[in-house]
Amino acid sequence: MGAMPRIERALESALQSADSAGAPPTLAAAMRHAVFPGGARIRPQLLLAVARACGDGDPLLADGAAAAVELLHCASLVHDDLPCFDDALTRRGRPSVHCAYGERIAVLTGDALIVLAFQHLGACAETSPQRLSRLLATLSAGVGMPWGIAAGQAWECESRTVLRDYQRAKTGALFAAATAAGAEAAGAESGRWRTLGEWLGEAYQVADDIRDVLADPLILGKPVGRDVALGRPSAAREQGLGGALDRFDTLVEQAVEAVPACRGAEGLRMLVRAEAQRLVPRPMRAELVM
Ligand code: IPE
Ligand code: IPE
Ligand code: MG
Ligand code: MG
Repeated sequence: MGAMPRIERALESALQSADSAGAPPTLAAAMRHAVFPGGARIRPQLLLAVARACGDGDPLLADGAAAAVELLHCASLVHDDLPCFDDALTRRGRPSVHCAYGERIAVLTGDALIVLAFQHLGACAETSPQRLSRLLATLSAGVGMPWGIAAGQAWECESRTVLRDYQRAKTGALFAAATAAGAEAAGAESGRWRTLGEWLGEAYQVADDIRDVLADPLILGKPVGRDVALGRPSAAREQGLGGALDRFDTLVEQAVEAVPACRGAEGLRMLVRAEAQRLVPRPMRAELVM
């Protein structure tokens, strides 16, 4: 089975355990709204690509970790869109969760998805329970303090923020968790894989900053111009669009070079390059150099 069907099936199985009979229906519907239909699913794709490169020794555990990383990502988007953060009305081309279901349900949706991520991972670790503690440490570090998403979002509340620390925490950390968890789910050593995720995650946020200035909101499915409007630290604001593009290209090359020697190395390099193309496509690049 290809990676995308594996990811959708794993997410469906996780959600089913949350919305069985007796669950409050509005929260159950809001959780589904946050997860389906998905966006690029890039973090679980990466996780499965690394697991495959490491032999995919326990596919059930890799699928569970892939679902967990995407649930954590979806939770972060629900919270990020709230009026007290970015106050975004749309996400993935639809009303954001608080617009569709109200703020109280949106807070609970993010919370419940975070908890579900860890519940589901635990339920998928029956055949390799000895791998679970590493995976729990890896995924929780990606979303918690001091270097995960919670830390990254908290940097927005400080009077002084170093752009690179902010980007590495709010976005890089979950990418690093995804690549590391892919190796760990397969029973492999994760250090070199984590480095790949760190470079890619940082590149991803720089691209997101460029797209916040140049992309069409209808194509992006979320509002643009938020970084300037909200005074957020951003690569485009600090380095200009040309400087941000140079930084993006450098980070992508670092990511390509960080792919460890393995049987699937060429496929992984292609995945990184294809993502770079998707994020900053040629027409956008042309606009930047004009
Ligand atoms: C958006 O992430 C938030 C960032 C970290 C830049 P994605 O661009 O991966 O969002 P989806 O999942 O594809 O919608
Ligand atoms: C994304 O930051 C990081 C998260 C933890 C959600 P952004 O605020 O730049 O992401 P978008 O542009 O809303 O997707
Ligand atoms: Mg945002
Ligand atoms: Mg943004």
